[in-house]
Amino acid sequence: MYLAFFVDRGHAVIPSASLVPQDDPTVLFTTAGMHPLTPYLKGQTHPSGTRLVDCQKCVRTTDIDDVGDPSHLTFFEMLGNWSLGDYYKNESIRWSYEFLTDPQYLGIDPQRLWITIFEGNDVVPRDDESAEVWRSLGIPDERIIALGEDDNWWSAGAEGACGPDTEIFMDRTGVPCARGDECLPGTCDCDRFFEIWNNVFMSYERRGGEITPLPNRNVDTGMGLERTVAMLNDLPSVYEIPTLVEIRNSITEPLEVAPTGEAAARALRILVDHLRAAVFIIGDTTSTLPSNQGRGYVVRRLIRRSVRVAQSLGLDPYHWADCSLRVIDLYGEVYPELERHRSLIHDELRAECERFLTTLHRGMRKLESEIESLVAEGGGVLSGEVAFHLYDTDGFPVDLTQEVAREAGLEVDIDDFERRFAEHRDRSRGQRAAGGLADDSEESVRYHTATHLLHAALREVLGDHVVQKGSNITRERLRFDFSHHAAMTPEEVAKVTALVQEQIDRGIAVEREVMTIPEARAAGAIGLFDDKYEGDVSVYRVPGFSLEFCGGPHVANTGELGHFRIVKEQSAGAGVRRIRAELEPKSAA
Ligand code: ALA
Repeated sequence: MYLAFFVDRGHAVIPSASLVPQDDPTVLFTTAGMHPLTPYLKGQTHPSGTRLVDCQKCVRTTDIDDVGDPSHLTFFEMLGNWSLGDYYKNESIRWSYEFLTDPQYLGIDPQRLWITIFEGNDVVPRDDESAEVWRSLGIPDERIIALGEDDNWWSAGAEGACGPDTEIFMDRTGVPCARGDECLPGTCDCDRFFEIWNNVFMSYERRGGEITPLPNRNVDTGMGLERTVAMLNDLPSVYEIPTLVEIRNSITEPLEVAPTGEAAARALRILVDHLRAAVFIIGDTTSTLPSNQGRGYVVRRLIRRSVRVAQSLGLDPYHWADCSLRVIDLYGEVYPELERHRSLIHDELRAECERFLTTLHRGMRKLESEIESLVAEGGGVLSGEVAFHLYDTDGFPVDLTQEVAREAGLEVDIDDFERRFAEHRDRSRGQRAAGGLADDSEESVRYHTATHLLHAALREVLGDHVVQKGSNITRERLRFDFSHHAAMTPEEVAKVTALVQEQIDRGIAVEREVMTIPEARAAGAIGLFDDKYEGDVSVYRVPGFSLEFCGGPHVANTGELGHFRIVKEQSAGAGVRRIRAELEPKSAA
């Protein structure tokens, strides 16, 4: 109905883009309908015209641990309509209102709608234009709330296309919660208001902290399909919509008695969500298979968590994997890539279940023999070392170790486990940071070398306590987190900038060398690396200035970096500072 409504109003239906962002190294998955349209929002001509409508597959993993409650989903479908420099606030708001309230369409009582608009800031004025359109449609001033950047400014990331938005809420109860007059949409977190639709007026761009107008005034709207269906049918949870109930029913089919109680309801929501998400990620036009890295690790986690949750309900994990066929039946018509990947999806799910079950089995045997010898010695505590070894080499979950130990009357030294876990995590973060670039475009490589120069310059200006805490590189900027206890003074920022620029202006060759870790340490190499690693590592040298463990790639000569500029220096947590810096190519500098 949504697609047809906008087709009637001159929009072209475009197919959902891949869940894997094609040109954006900053996100793992497509998280909103606008991701794939970014170049067109910035002014490029779209082959299907200036009015588009779609239903986009999205995956959001930030909330992965909240999945299980009644409202969070990892995978969801987002309805959206776009104007690429065509219509603007007036039409966008009127059409949203018509679709929501006209009995021919959703038929929601207009008395139940509340609106938020952008209250304005130093750069962009208050959105009185949208408020006026809402007023002309009969929404009274009391139900139009102006809010700031946290609520009514939308962007897909720290940089790029963005703009003020107007959000449409449905009042579910009609009565304020205990907060009284302060029970308002957007700010009150009680269950009264339900966000239905977000209309973003994407007409700005943020680059290096500065907001400038885009060439076109665009509209980007987003409406979560599952949430809207739940709301229209007065369902208590997104998991009660017909498609998800069908998936749940196929999962519970082998059980003679349907599980009851909140813990079982939670478990079933996890099984439903994770199955659908895994099916869509493996079955995407750009397929992702389970692995230990990035997107692959997300699928692995979805499947492995499901295996254990299934077992906790007395369900065979392979049966859960087989239910993928049911998911494909339900969605294959709209997303033909799922049909095309039918056997791949099914096989990969089963294979990953098998790998994990083997792991569990092997870990269980090791654990049992550890427990046996402990018990023979008269009991005591299972060490964090054993628990961590099981986790690290066998992928054996620590809560399972605890469970099995408890059955034998033993406790696990969980504090020690956690200390080891944290150490390991920091080390592998460091290795990743030192391990090279995911995106080796020319721009990112320049930023990578600039990051080494910055790291060395910070240590020279601020002291040797400066250690890399994180690094994130895109084609537009670098971001570098490091240990330091105070905000940098303007003089320190200027000194660091000058030092980096000096190295660039020297135009010297960047050298790669291969050595063992003790050799590299002796030579003064900085950067995080696992000292237990016995093989050769590579280090990159900017002679006379920087020597750092790194997988590369780097530019051949520092002169390629152009003009270096620190855009921002800010806190990134206790004792950690964050620098954002940009390069301008020589020619433009
Ligand atoms: N891009 C906007 C959102 O995801 C519409 O909410």
